[in-house]
Amino acid sequence: MSSSTALPKSLPMVCAELGRRAAQALSDKFPAHPALPIELPLLPASKPEFGDLQVNACLQLAKPLGQKPRELAQLVEAALKTHPAVAKTEIAGPGYVNVHLTDEFVSGCLHELASDPHHGIEQLHRGKSVVVDYSSPNIAKPMHIGHIRSTIIGAALQRIFAAVGYRVIADNHLGDWGTQFGKLIVAYRNWLDEAAFARDPIGELVRLYQKFVTDEKAQADALSLARPAKADDDDEDDAVAEVTPLLAAARAELAKLQKGDPENLALWKRFVTVSLAEFDKTYARLGVAFDTVYGESHFHPRLASLVAELLASGIAEESRGAVICNVDGAPAPLLIRKADGSFLYGTTDLATIEQRVRDYQPERILYVVGTPQQLHFQQVFFVARKMGCRCSLEHISFGSMRFKDKDGNYTTGSTRKGNVPLLDEYLDLATERAAEVARQKSADLSEAELSEVARVVGIGAIKYSDLSRDRQQDIHFDLDKALALDGNTAPYMQYAYARLRSIARKAQAEGFQTADAVTLVEPAERRLGRRLLDYATVVETTARTARPHHLCEYLFDLAGVVSTFYTELPVLKAEPAVRASRLALLALVAKTLRHGLALLGIEVPERM
Ligand code: ARG
Repeated sequence: MSSSTALPKSLPMVCAELGRRAAQALSDKFPAHPALPIELPLLPASKPEFGDLQVNACLQLAKPLGQKPRELAQLVEAALKTHPAVAKTEIAGPGYVNVHLTDEFVSGCLHELASDPHHGIEQLHRGKSVVVDYSSPNIAKPMHIGHIRSTIIGAALQRIFAAVGYRVIADNHLGDWGTQFGKLIVAYRNWLDEAAFARDPIGELVRLYQKFVTDEKAQADALSLARPAKADDDDEDDAVAEVTPLLAAARAELAKLQKGDPENLALWKRFVTVSLAEFDKTYARLGVAFDTVYGESHFHPRLASLVAELLASGIAEESRGAVICNVDGAPAPLLIRKADGSFLYGTTDLATIEQRVRDYQPERILYVVGTPQQLHFQQVFFVARKMGCRCSLEHISFGSMRFKDKDGNYTTGSTRKGNVPLLDEYLDLATERAAEVARQKSADLSEAELSEVARVVGIGAIKYSDLSRDRQQDIHFDLDKALALDGNTAPYMQYAYARLRSIARKAQAEGFQTADAVTLVEPAERRLGRRLLDYATVVETTARTARPHHLCEYLFDLAGVVSTFYTELPVLKAEPAVRASRLALLALVAKTLRHGLALLGIEVPERM
């Protein structure tokens, strides 16, 4: 084994080199065979005793190459074992090649990692842009806990994409032009409580909206009109043919607004302004910042001409007075203009794609929106592709969020029914509960430190309990579980970080040195060092799949590996040279945890 060749500096680099060597070895034997890739995949070993990496491609290649898997594995093994980063190889089972990397290579990578501003993450997507459309609430209603998923997942993806090199454009596509404004205008004119509006504008708008809904329902009942039984707070009134006087009035006000009536426009501006001020406070609490906030209203001026162009190009057609776009494979066409001449949610989405493509030439556009809108995006994406959009359009869907109501039953709630906890109230509640826990656990913290820990842990717990689950799952949100100090929770991760920092402070107070390079001797050290090298790949996978739980799983596992490390090996009590190396290793773990949690939008306390 020679170490004169330069060692690669990261795990992704060594995987690429080994993968090409392995492929080369096979193509030397089977020149230009169509089944052979240019690089064989190197996967993480499934158990520590199998080494660090594994090639399992020989099993799949055996058939097309007409060989026994183990014979191919021998060729691959011979090529890999001479690589300078490789300590040992072996053929296992039906034809796996296990690869053990040298300690020298692993500690060299750790050394690189310590000073790399990108924390080992390859900037593979530099020069490309991605648009993340998230949060995007319908305004003039408060943000309730149901909005939290889009906001939290979207903000995490925004940071994760930036970490792998993308230029990220985070856009809050506000629903600021929907049918709720017709209702609000009617309610505001009839029932406004000026004093209440001055005190708590959003609260008063919500009261007005709810009063409209209740009164309108009472009218419908009195007239025995049927209403679609919808639990969510989407505006379904379009489906209603026979209307109450209140709904008719709301539709008339909406039409006036959309035609530019100055009085209605002024009211609308007022609703938008007070709503945004309220949202911005919540976004600040969550540490969320958008690059652009083009609401649906921004696109209104483009809609008439867009529909005309789609008709002219044959992408759209008239149908019973309305304009629709047929969508192959979908159960229904996309409606882009109603018979009364008004435009729809989907029309706006098409205009939005057009602007995004023109302004940013993105490689991907992601919509972080709940699963119920799947059909909508299927339709919109199909039509956008027909319009010539070549970028990857992705619906980043997520399951529903249920929470306990006053009677302890899980529900998704509804703004209409007024039984949804407001997001802000939930953040308050989590912070208060975190303060109680902190008071019991960390009696030595000052009042100021306690309240900071409570904020970081409370908000972190809400975020992490969402991000740590596959986004497509429905969530039954349980504050007690989210705040538990053990298990895959934010407090556990934050505590793991705070413990590392506490060791570093003690070492500093004693004047102990931290080594420049890590020496890997004991298995627990080797295992921790090796696991740190997976970070870059995990972040890349998380970005590719847009599934933040991959990152959570990794960080949780890393915290587990470090806690085993403590139980097996002394740190502050070790020999000076060993201690210095272990302090360096633990500093790197702390840096990785902090970096990863920051990508998820979760802050860490220095003490807990
Ligand atoms: N405002 C919509 C809602 O609350 C979500 C918008 C998502 N983004 C989009 N471009 N359609 O349901």
